[in-house]
Amino acid sequence: MTIWNRIEIIRGDITLMTADAIVNAANNSLLGGGGVDGAIHRAAGPALLSACRTLGGCATGEAKITRGYRLPAKWVIHTVGPVWRGGHKKEAYLLASAYRESLLLAREYELKSIAFPNISTGVYGFPKEMAAEIAIEEVSSYLKLNSLPEKVIFCIFDQENFDIYQEIFQRSE
Ligand code: APR
Repeated sequence: MTIWNRIEIIRGDITLMTADAIVNAANNSLLGGGGVDGAIHRAAGPALLSACRTLGGCATGEAKITRGYRLPAKWVIHTVGPVWRGGHKKEAYLLASAYRESLLLAREYELKSIAFPNISTGVYGFPKEMAAEIAIEEVSSYLKLNSLPEKVIFCIFDQENFDIYQEIFQRSE
């Protein structure tokens, strides 16, 4: 089967997703924050923060996993995208790595489905179009070589990002 029917783009709140894992756009401390990080911690409850405290932080471009607690998703994969600093500090490489490391962790845990937010495109200021290109490129090239996870969902909160993903997706299929 082609990889394109293993990728879904939906508009919505990732804390409501019933995927095996949802991905959190965290910061290096893994101790919570605003944006999607704040929403996930609010929905998961205080046990998520307690679990994150035992992880010793997370380097940019890497990923760590915890249970989902009160979330419908069984697992949360915490990854840290790069802060946009103009594009000459390996930002594109680090953003691709955040997606790839999250997928590798989902494979290690034999998860069937994973939902991503638009990592780094909020507080971290990464240009939305470039971030969407990197996300779709990294995920599609991973899926061509790997059968797990079976399904990748881009769970997009804002209309601007949703339109960008739809446009790129139609161009790529
Ligand atoms: N569901 C899905 N996506 C969401 C949600 C939600 N409930 N809330 C926000 N988003 C989207 C935003 O619209 C944005 O496109 O998540 C994307 C990422 O934005 P941020 O959450 O600001 O994440 P990021 O840009 O990676 O910055 C990370 O922000 O929250 C802090 O602790 C976090 O310091 C870290 C930084």
